[in-house]
Amino acid sequence: MALEDFPRYPLMFGPSPVHPLPRLSEYLGGAQIWAKREDCNSGLAFGGNKTRKLEYIVPDVLAEGADTLVSIGGVQSNHTRQVAAVAAKLGLKAVLVQEAWVNWPDSVNDRVGNIMLSRIMGAEVRLDPSGFDIGFRDSWNQALDDVRARGGKPYGIPAGASDHRLGGLGFANWAYEVQQQERDLGVFFDTIIVCSVTGSTHAGMIAGFAGQDRPRRVIGIDASAKIEPTREQVARIARNTAELIDLGRDLRDDEITVLEGWAGDLYGIPVQSTLDAIRLTGSLEGMIIDPVYEGKSMAGLVDLVRTGEIGKDSTVLYAHLGGQPAINAYSALFRA
Ligand SMILES: Cc1ncc(COP(=O)(O)O)c(C=O)c1O
Repeated sequence: MALEDFPRYPLMFGPSPVHPLPRLSEYLGGAQIWAKREDCNSGLAFGGNKTRKLEYIVPDVLAEGADTLVSIGGVQSNHTRQVAAVAAKLGLKAVLVQEAWVNWPDSVNDRVGNIMLSRIMGAEVRLDPSGFDIGFRDSWNQALDDVRARGGKPYGIPAGASDHRLGGLGFANWAYEVQQQERDLGVFFDTIIVCSVTGSTHAGMIAGFAGQDRPRRVIGIDASAKIEPTREQVARIARNTAELIDLGRDLRDDEITVLEGWAGDLYGIPVQSTLDAIRLTGSLEGMIIDPVYEGKSMAGLVDLVRTGEIGKDSTVLYAHLGGQPAINAYSALFRA
């Protein structure tokens, strides 16, 4: 089935905006840097990359007649906040398992930012002490069972909406959207930079771009600090998505690039390069990025341009995937 034949439930304003970052480009003294803004792709609770993925999952939810979305993430998960927003929009309930993925000592970590927004939107938030893992969890199965025991009909959405049959479609479509925007803008992005953790954002892009004539580099920057599971998950979802949209050929290994080096030692804990990237982007462009995901992928972009790994003649598209609400739990880092 071709991508355009999959049902899609509109949750976004339309194509997300694409614009240049001229002051950042000048500062780095190399490639021309642009951004495509999933952080302002929707009016639903600040949007983000999961809102785009969920456009392809919602038709399945509705077809199954579910009444409760059940999902999982860290305490400051952007994903669960977007699931809560979509549930509210559809008139469904949401049960969110929020695990202790990040050992972050801020006293308001479980009260502000994403988790606060999910509570405001009426989701049932369950705090769980388990640590970081992008796989399937007992707490998630328990939540599904609890909904059934109450007489409800749950629909499970895995972490990051990634390990789901349809999880890669949203960003496969992003690739087509980029192609269209390139035509309108008269530009070609030879390099894409994207943050990768649960994998289907990057994987979907790989599958989508693989069907286009003009090759380009799609570079994933790991923010999980667990590079091997992330690489495996990206490769698996990219191949499944490519097959689902009838790419008609196998993806080559060299089309799947996840780079390590900017995640630090732990998921969710920023390192100096993360903080530098956040301040740099904020002070040069007024563009806000977060300490868990985009701060790390931007740190990667900065280094790749500085070292010449991304050449001076390159035109780069930075995928801004959202995530700013979490920054409220990291206020201690920005007092000076
Ligand atoms: C703001 C933000 N950026 C990047 C990512 C990574 O996307 P993915 O989980 O699809 O790899 C996520 C979610 O995990 C996110 O919330």
